[in-house]
Amino acid sequence: MSSPLFELRNLHVATEDTEILHGVDLSLPEGEIHALMGPNGSGKTTLASILMGHPEYRVTKGSIFYKGEDITEWSTDTRAKAGIFLAFQYPESISGVSVIQFLRQAVSARRQSDVSAIEIRFDMADWMERLGMDPSFAERHLNEGFSGGEKKRNEILQMALLNPDLAILDETDSGLDIDALRVVSKGIREVRSANPKLSALLITHYQRFLDEVAPDQVHILIDGKIRASGGMEIVEELEVSGYERWKN
Ligand SMILES: Nc1ncnc2c1ncn2[C@@H]1O[C@H](COP(=O)(O)OP(=O)(O)OP(=O)(O)O)[C@@H](O)[C@H]1O
Ligand SMILES: [Mg+2]
Repeated sequence: MSSPLFELRNLHVATEDTEILHGVDLSLPEGEIHALMGPNGSGKTTLASILMGHPEYRVTKGSIFYKGEDITEWSTDTRAKAGIFLAFQYPESISGVSVIQFLRQAVSARRQSDVSAIEIRFDMADWMERLGMDPSFAERHLNEGFSGGEKKRNEILQMALLNPDLAILDETDSGLDIDALRVVSKGIREVRSANPKLSALLITHYQRFLDEVAPDQVHILIDGKIRASGGMEIVEELEVSGYERWKN
């Protein structure tokens, strides 16, 4: 097994006065895809947010290691430049900013050099074709009137263009139809085939989605703690008896 790309060591995370994660240990080797499942409110989004350094959450104990470095105190911006990507649905549209403008800026920040409009247009066209997206999408304003499925496609497009080392996809909040699930799983496979070193943490409630992605490991988070880790058999158990058996 290769060395872990990131590792959470006894991670405790709080927001204001409340502790949400109570000592999470989690390790993701380079090139692997892990799924994180758990009941509503168990702390999955909190975990995704703290990995990205979201200011609303504080690490009160323990640490986050990425590529062997302790990044617990790093800013979100530094983490993004180091290749960590969090796909979340922008709750608000950014008025007047087109998808292409947004991506040009994000890719320039990641590469730490200005990417030309022509280059971004070329890369985008290539990826949009691979992801089965309509070319007119690039000119639309970011998230303005995007459907759930279009937002998902946009997230996958961002991931493809930013070419992260670690992608965190928090899918829980959206009611995706089967086509949108396929877009995401196909997108992950495409991005992974372009970069076999890609590691991903997928947060999901859907067995169907995991059947398509075939993660290397599945973790169950309940009440801010990892209660089980293993293969797809865990997901099958979950389908049969719910989370009850891991609660105590
Ligand atoms: N900013 C915040 N302020 C106060 N409480 C918060 C905050 N963020 C999360 N919480 C609380 O922490 C707990 C975990 O929330 P989190 O969003 O991480 O759960 P989740 O596992 O992602 O749930 P879901 O499956 O519903 O998306 C919840 O009880 C939530 O209310
Ligand atoms: Mg969530």
